[in-house]
Amino acid sequence: MKKSVNEMKLTVLSCSANESFARASTAAFIAQLDPTIEELADIKTAVSEAVTNCIVHAYRQTIGYIYITVKIFDTNTVQIKIRDCGCGIENIEQAKEPLFTTGGEERAGLGFAVMESFMDKLRVNSQKGKGTTVVMEKTLSRRIKRNLSA
Ligand SMILES: Nc1ncnc2c1ncn2[C@@H]1O[C@H](COP(=O)(O)OP(=O)(O)O)[C@@H](O)[C@H]1O
Ligand SMILES: [Mg+2]
Repeated sequence: MKKSVNEMKLTVLSCSANESFARASTAAFIAQLDPTIEELADIKTAVSEAVTNCIVHAYRQTIGYIYITVKIFDTNTVQIKIRDCGCGIENIEQAKEPLFTTGGEERAGLGFAVMESFMDKLRVNSQKGKGTTVVMEKTLSRRIKRNLSA
């Protein structure tokens, strides 16, 4: 993909308070693209799911860093990368299946399904014992005018 026109990086610890912080910060950054209310809600939900997975699965019983990068491409496409250095996923295809969970009773197993349906693209890379990277993209309906010389 070509060079981003704007970018932000955020590193947070995997405590549960940072789930809403990551979601709100991403939404605030994306506001410059003038998303519709629905687009913004979709992106916030997808970020929540990905960050929650880092908190409850990747760093289960421990605390570690979550690395979030948000890039804006071409005035209306958003790419969000959420990376952890936690336990990793053994079988990504299985993990992405709706209702699959290793989280027991209180987890629905729908996080990846939500990310997949609310965003245009979802890519998951993972190595057991090393960590997981989730990359999501969404192209917004409104194209903002940007002063390219700025
Ligand atoms: N960042 C991650 N690190 C380790 N395992 C993960 C991560 N994200 C997801 N998983 C694995 O994929 C499964 C499915 O995730 P998801 O669809 O969000 O459902 P849920 O979180 O409800 O279990 C999880 O139960 C877990 O085993
Ligand atoms: Mg989940």
